[in-house]
Amino acid sequence: MAEQTRSDGLIFYVNGEKITEKNPDPETMLLSFLRKNLRLTGTKYGCGGGGCGACTVMVSRYDPQTKNINHWSVNACLLPVCQLHGAAVTTVEGIGSTKTKLHPVQERIAKAHGSQCGFCTPGMVMSMYTLLRNNPQPTMEDVTEGLAGNLCRCTGYRPIVDGYRTFCESENCCQLNGSTCNMSNGNENGSVEPIENGQPELFSKGDLLPLDPTQDLIFPPELMRLAEVKDQTTQRFCGERMTWISPGSLNELLQLKADYPQAPLVMGNTNIGLDMKFKGIFHPVIISPTQVPELFKVTQKPEGVCVGAGCSMSFLKSVLERSINDFPPESTHMFRALLQQIKLVGGQQIRNVATLGGNIASAYPNSDLTPILAAGRCTLVALSKDGRRRVPIDKDFFLGFAKTVLKPDEIVLSVFIPASRPNEIVHAFRHAPRKESALATVNAGMRVWFNENSNVVKEISIYYGGVGATILSADRACQQIVGRPWEEATLSDVYSTLVDEIKLGPSAPGGKVDFRRSLTLSLFFKFNLLVLQYLKDVTQVDIPQKMQSAIQPLPKHIQPGYQEFQNVLEGQSAQDPVGRPMMHRTALSQATGEAVYCDDLPQTDGELFLVIVTSSRPHAKITHIDFSEALKLPGVVDVITAKDIPGKRFRTFTGYDEELLAEDEVTCVGQMVCAVVADSKAHAKRGAAAVKISYEDLQDRIFTVEEAIEKESFFLPRRQIERGDVEKGLREAEQVYEGEIRIGGQEHFYLETQSFLVIPIGEEKEMKVYLSTQHPAFTQEAVAETLGIPSNRVSCHVKRLGGAFGGKVTKTAILASITAVAASKTGRPVRCVLERGEDMLITGGRHPVWGIYKVGFMKDGRITAADFQYYANAGNVVDESVLVAEKILLHLDNAYNIPNLRGRSAACKTNLPSNTAFRGFGVPQCMLVVESMIDDVALKLGRLPEEIREINMYKEVSLTHYKMEFDPENLVRCWNECMKKADFRQRRQGIDLFNQQNQFKKRGIAIVPIKYGIGFAEAFLNQAAALVHIYKDGSVLVSHGGTEMGQGIHTKVQQVASRELNIPTSLIHISETSTQCVPNTCPSAASFGTDANGMAVKDACQILYNRLEPIRKKNPKGTWQNWIITAFLQKISLSATGYYRGHDLDMDWEKQEGKPYAYFTYAVGCSEVELDCLTGEYRTLRTDIVVDIGRSINPSIDIGQIEGAFMQGLGLYTMEELKFSPSGVLYTRGPSQYKIPSFCDVPLKFNVYLLAGSSNPHAIYSSKGIGEPTVFLGSSVFFAIKDAVTAARKDAGLTGPFQLNSPATPERACLACATHFTQMVAQSESTSGPAQPWALNI
Ligand SMILES: Cc1cc2nc3c(=O)[nH]c(=O)nc-3n(C[C@H](O)[C@H](O)[C@H](O)COP(=O)(O)OP(=O)(O)OC[C@H]3O[C@@H](n4cnc5c(N)ncnc54)[C@H](O)[C@@H]3O)c2cc1C
Ligand code: FES
Ligand code: FES
Repeated sequence: MAEQTRSDGLIFYVNGEKITEKNPDPETMLLSFLRKNLRLTGTKYGCGGGGCGACTVMVSRYDPQTKNINHWSVNACLLPVCQLHGAAVTTVEGIGSTKTKLHPVQERIAKAHGSQCGFCTPGMVMSMYTLLRNNPQPTMEDVTEGLAGNLCRCTGYRPIVDGYRTFCESENCCQLNGSTCNMSNGNENGSVEPIENGQPELFSKGDLLPLDPTQDLIFPPELMRLAEVKDQTTQRFCGERMTWISPGSLNELLQLKADYPQAPLVMGNTNIGLDMKFKGIFHPVIISPTQVPELFKVTQKPEGVCVGAGCSMSFLKSVLERSINDFPPESTHMFRALLQQIKLVGGQQIRNVATLGGNIASAYPNSDLTPILAAGRCTLVALSKDGRRRVPIDKDFFLGFAKTVLKPDEIVLSVFIPASRPNEIVHAFRHAPRKESALATVNAGMRVWFNENSNVVKEISIYYGGVGATILSADRACQQIVGRPWEEATLSDVYSTLVDEIKLGPSAPGGKVDFRRSLTLSLFFKFNLLVLQYLKDVTQVDIPQKMQSAIQPLPKHIQPGYQEFQNVLEGQSAQDPVGRPMMHRTALSQATGEAVYCDDLPQTDGELFLVIVTSSRPHAKITHIDFSEALKLPGVVDVITAKDIPGKRFRTFTGYDEELLAEDEVTCVGQMVCAVVADSKAHAKRGAAAVKISYEDLQDRIFTVEEAIEKESFFLPRRQIERGDVEKGLREAEQVYEGEIRIGGQEHFYLETQSFLVIPIGEEKEMKVYLSTQHPAFTQEAVAETLGIPSNRVSCHVKRLGGAFGGKVTKTAILASITAVAASKTGRPVRCVLERGEDMLITGGRHPVWGIYKVGFMKDGRITAADFQYYANAGNVVDESVLVAEKILLHLDNAYNIPNLRGRSAACKTNLPSNTAFRGFGVPQCMLVVESMIDDVALKLGRLPEEIREINMYKEVSLTHYKMEFDPENLVRCWNECMKKADFRQRRQGIDLFNQQNQFKKRGIAIVPIKYGIGFAEAFLNQAAALVHIYKDGSVLVSHGGTEMGQGIHTKVQQVASRELNIPTSLIHISETSTQCVPNTCPSAASFGTDANGMAVKDACQILYNRLEPIRKKNPKGTWQNWIITAFLQKISLSATGYYRGHDLDMDWEKQEGKPYAYFTYAVGCSEVELDCLTGEYRTLRTDIVVDIGRSINPSIDIGQIEGAFMQGLGLYTMEELKFSPSGVLYTRGPSQYKIPSFCDVPLKFNVYLLAGSSNPHAIYSSKGIGEPTVFLGSSVFFAIKDAVTAARKDAGLTGPFQLNSPATPERACLACATHFTQMVAQSESTSGPAQPWALNI
């Protein structure tokens, strides 16, 4: 190829502007082209692999056949620029802006409070925008389907759903409620006070911009003319390493395939793109036949439909929908089954580009299509220069993992999907770790053909995906059935044969061995029920009533959420925004893509990019680092090792040193060893891949807490706390029970990965550090110490963070320091933005905890004594683990007054990446242990868990186990109110009835309380400072120590300043958090940011307000601007610092007593779920939360925190699983493997009530901290699942306590249900193989 360097021009449009690229690099994706080449930074990087939707844009093309313009939402991170010829790209900047006119999709997500950190917002906006371009009157199902490929880690989705519900006419709030909205107008501050039925609402639906199609950019006529050209010419682009050829005709394509048999066909790039990005697979030549019309041809015949292999899933979906309409109903079984699967392939953006041919040719074991195509007798046409052949898509087609019988020079031209024959029934099934946008764990295609008017089987086909390297045909089971009637005796033979036939070794890739095997039986059982239903007319036998729900889908319609909060006090000035639901102050900029995040800062002159090289060994000596090859590569400038650090080479946390870059020894996979700096990210990545590190493995590796206990590998000190006499309490108890629970870790999954830009000023060693951190002062100190310069030469600047949740403090400071070393050594600006996989590997997350307990209790439910032992897997370095272990002990009682209580905790030192702070700081783990214990007591006594909770709850002024006095009145009020609002007792009865009537679907309900301490036990961390300037025009600039990470601190602080200065918020600006404005700040953490910084700002504003007092008195009718200019002329300083000393909190661990918290936030959450016992899949039907948050400063922000934290907790307790290989390698390094909650996980009814009549003398304006507490309420879903499982176990004859570990994934829930099928699998033998499981149980 080298000699063919001619490059044809690439023509496309972005936001109406023509782009002509003569020499596009085939390796460039649209995302980086938009961000770097066009400086359109609204489109974000979240994962690079099509899994998060942050990079969503709209691509439009003109179809010369239909004369239509088609619009698709796509992931820009997977779309090669070379594929854009003739396309019009619309980004978030192209649909509206705050400078011109907002688009309604931008306005509504912002006004509905659906944008917190805002990093996901442009992607959400573009998915919704594309949906509306295609369908201006969508249903709610359309909306959730359109957004299923977009993740948000902050909001919990409810406000986004409710904001976009306003586009669905059928969902209009007024119509739904049958009443008229009575919306008031905005006040001077721009905040709204909508009232509906006398109840204040979070946002006004009355004054939203209407959808106006004239606002949309017109499709460029030039592109229509381009598309009309009959014979498309071949395009060829040559990059630095890769050649891209886009043939204009089928013949050319076949010739190219003959010339370059190893070159892949890039269609949707959703498979090959991932291989190249994440597996380092390189292809020197790429063939992209998207211009070859034959690949997109669809023909319908009476026997079925023939679909071009280049058709996308979305197009195939419309073809199938049409066919279902066109064919007689009895012929459409196969179409329906395939359609059902296609609807669940990836998210909308993936379905819009991923092709049928690509899916088949990829031959991935968990393709959703191949099992059903195989079972449904589909065939394909394989074509090469040598001719064509028709090949059945069956077990013989797939040879192994990613291997088919296709020859290297063959392409798939088309796929034939046959119509179903009379008496033939086809069904497809799939089970995935998340209901939407997740690869299947196991899927299946099943077809049976009966003799006419009979239940005797003529032909049957059963295919499974996800149970081996390729799809599996259950031949033996099929043989059992053929020629026999479809009845109980036949089928029970089939189950036993299936158990025998489908075996997975203990170390089978993907793990979940028993679960996957039992799914194969459960899915067949579902097929059986569907077939019985179909045969009803022949056999005259209906399936039993109790079993019918087994084939009903779980409910999925998300209803409007209800939020109740208190109006401001009567008499409060209309201008005073405190207590009102005010939109996040930069939500509109976030929704238009104008909001600037660290990596959106423009490239600086001479800038370099830094990529970290990490250890591939869990515990080893570094014998040599060879970077000679890296330095030879184009663009590589330098390699940074520990030896380059001019100052301190480590950070010290709680007495332990952590090396910035490993020098002699590595102690986990993912530990940072060195860093490569180059003139571009691509060059730095290639340089990093070329660094060779030689190791000498050390044998004493420790991964699990059990291993750590055995080897006494702990970070010290280990803490203990006790009240009463536990031994005596246990002795005196009527019953004693010992139990345990394991709680898995959690990845922060902030949408914005760790990002840095360090600019050496070039004079007196000054460094400017732009970054995304919760703790700028800590980073400043770290950078200064690392470089060996005073702190006054380093300034850290944080405009906003795209989420943090505790994960942007410690490792962030280390990463910033390494970047600073590179900037200092090279004398050039250096940028470092971690890729998602690197971020997940390097930065650690929430501590997994093993909780063991012994509890003594009386027959009446009173707990007399409890003894807890907690082991937290801290990882290889201490980080904040000792503090996490301490906090665990402070919250072990949760809301319960257990007279004799003991807790011991240990931070285990292991060879896994170190864990760190995460929203709740150990509390969500320890509270699950105590609640699990309560559940066990209830099960032991045969009583309901809510009764045991109520009996043991703190009820009057009490002392905690560390002797801090508190009044639990509001805890009890939250409990009672939640019970009432949730209509708990009534629903409990309804659930019991449901469970009696349904065998394989069970419902469960649970209610859990929380008492959460606010403030830092280390007194000095409670202080805060602020700097407020008033400029001569009256505008005010507020700086304070808090960082804005989506929690809305800047909005609340703006409200505080507005009240104190008595001016509208529009006059108040907050630009960034900078160590230059406010020094020596504390982290934005512990739910304490507004408490502390709000007070400091209040102080500064009051100082200024008082200074203006004489002027105001003299001219009481003057305006703010008059007073300010007068003050200036009178030489009155218009700048003031404010300071808040904070609470003097402490905890004496020797005496085991103290006052570590300023006060408690109380909350109670109740959830109900419906569980499919056959698959473990569940749906949260309803959640009600009552929170005592004092007097909320901003109910919309606080409710946003409550809902977002709840959903993060739901993820923690029911779905998010970090998996490590037996040698300590993190498998789960992106959204494809690690599932955080998505739209489909939002409770179908989600109500939040802020407790009325509460106040709090310990925090600003009587408010309370709320960032963290409600994470734990996500456990109400965990316990509701456990409740449903308990009902299923009862049917199986199992009663009493059982261990359900967290997260209660479908795997755990299904196995715990102990259905007939899971028991069959448990009793069967697995195939022989290495006994080592695929993943560690850490
Ligand atoms: C985030 C994400 C989620 C996903 N979720 C699902 C899911 O839920 N279920 C599921 O089944 N799949 C899922 N997938 C996989 C996806 O469906 C496949 O990657 C896709 O169908 C492949 O099609 P493509 O056009 O993108 O192929 P490409 O990536 O362009 O090509 C893939 C391979 O197929 C070959 N190829 C392509 N077309 C042809 C042809 N006509 N003839 C011969 N060879 C050809 C190429 O040479 C290449 O080797 C997901 C993928 C992503 C990225
Ligand atoms: S960045 Fe493209 S989907 Fe995540
Ligand atoms: S607002 Fe969605 S990720 Fe932060």
